[in-house]
Amino acid sequence: MILCKMQPGHIAGVKDLLDSCFGTSAWSTESIAAQLDKPDSYCAVAVDEDKVVGYIAFEKILDEGSIVELAVDPEHRRQGMGRRLVELMLSSCTGVKTICLEVRVSNTAARSLYEAFDFEEITIRKNYYDDPREDAAIMIKKVNE
Ligand SMILES: CC(C)(COP(=O)(O)OP(=O)(O)OC[C@H]1O[C@@H](n2cnc3c(N)ncnc32)[C@H](O)[C@@H]1OP(=O)(O)O)[C@@H](O)C(=O)NCCC(=O)NCCS
Repeated sequence: MILCKMQPGHIAGVKDLLDSCFGTSAWSTESIAAQLDKPDSYCAVAVDEDKVVGYIAFEKILDEGSIVELAVDPEHRRQGMGRRLVELMLSSCTGVKTICLEVRVSNTAARSLYEAFDFEEITIRKNYYDDPREDAAIMIKKVNE
């Protein structure tokens, strides 16, 4: 298993991973490629025997960062991979004072993971998600550099 900065050659593997995690609401191949190309974006993958089994995408606007995607292959969950991807992202992002994200209120796994990194819920955005319709919790972490 390796964790590394994402390369264009990982795009198809990330697409398969996101399809398995998010079904019809998964990002398209074009969105994954566009995220990788953004100048202030940081994308990393976990690869196990040539299969992409973890993905994190982070982006920055001025001194504000956001985690825009995080996914771990269902068969590789609860083995510390989500934690390692967040740690890698935190050690790679510089010049940010806060990191924010949105997460489905029912997503206990992701919320627990983020809370372990001191993300705090600051508000709820009503009906933010479709398929199924659900509120988003907005979580923020202050970064001390
Ligand atoms: C959220 C997700 C990335 C977690 O990945 P993971 O590799 O299983 O997480 P880890 O094994 O690193 O777990 C780290 C901590 O997160 C919490 N956690 C992870 N899965 C959990 C679960 N199912 N229930 C409760 N807490 C959980 C725990 O605190 C865990 O620490 P512990 O194992 O010491 O108890 C994964 O479940 C996933 O891909 N889910 C679908 C996609 C998704 O929801 N993405 C987030 C969008 S905002």
